[in-house]
Amino acid sequence: MNSRICVLGSINMDMIIRVDKFPQTGETITGLSCELMPGGKGANQAIAVANMGVPVDLIGLLGNDEFGRILRDHLIAANVNINDVAQSKSSSGMAVVTVDGEGSNQIVVIPGSNALLRREIVDGYLTRQGSTVRYIISQFEVSPDLINYAFNKAKSLGAITVLNPSPLQPIPRELIEQTDMFIFNKSELAQVVALTNSIPSPNDALHMALRWRQEIGKKTVVVTLGENGLLAIHKDRIIKQPAQNIAHVIDTTGAGDCFCGSLVAFLHRGYPFDESLAFAQKAAAYSIQRRGASPSFPKFRTLVTNKMKGEMK
Ligand code: RIB
Repeated sequence: MNSRICVLGSINMDMIIRVDKFPQTGETITGLSCELMPGGKGANQAIAVANMGVPVDLIGLLGNDEFGRILRDHLIAANVNINDVAQSKSSSGMAVVTVDGEGSNQIVVIPGSNALLRREIVDGYLTRQGSTVRYIISQFEVSPDLINYAFNKAKSLGAITVLNPSPLQPIPRELIEQTDMFIFNKSELAQVVALTNSIPSPNDALHMALRWRQEIGKKTVVVTLGENGLLAIHKDRIIKQPAQNIAHVIDTTGAGDCFCGSLVAFLHRGYPFDESLAFAQKAAAYSIQRRGASPSFPKFRTLVTNKMKGEMK
């Protein structure tokens, strides 16, 4: 397998604070614990890909601080190629993640060096890798302009572009055109299509996804629906899959990243689309039963017992 997946995205140090219940505005509460763990949507997605045994390159920017050094070592240990992860003069990205007793989270991200990522790094990478990049994935913790630039260039080299527009901000029209596959959660979909913050029912989500796809053309749209599973529109087929059975949710941090990276990795390995969705769901379900973002992601052998099953190359 010479071809590879590229992730263009953020690298953060997560400060994970556990509480029984989230505080109200103006309230002071006593937390249960506080831990530093590696995170950042880009780094998390790259690790999810690497865990599935697919060669993955991360394009990112670390800070010039102790966190930067720890995050770099973590990525190397996870088998992510970081030749195109540069170091800025500023501090590393950070996220303060509060997780309640039900495993739900609230996240505040301080972009730090992630906001300084520049076109030159993307240019250098794509010029070197050329058509070996089969998929490029990105998220909105780096600038949409930069993503648009990278997708445009990668597409001209034959890559398939995957956008996980999280944390959500308006998606520029040009970037919509450059994207082959969108991966949303249900509230992101509602905000993009219906400009509402209310959470849609699975049926409403399907109508929204169909409506949006009519506007944007024949692209793949995947929507994760939490306890209601997922839906996808792919090559004019509607696919619905129920959620995995989960005994106890510990921490949902990074589950969406685990889903995105695993999905693209299974597609890259040649698994059929529906089967790739199912494995990505399984991976995300595994992750929410453990603490932290990437440290909670499963390995390929944990998900697939017969390694050759479904592989085409
Ligand atoms: O998606 C989870 C991630 O969001 C965390 O790791 C945190 O760093 C924020 O980027």
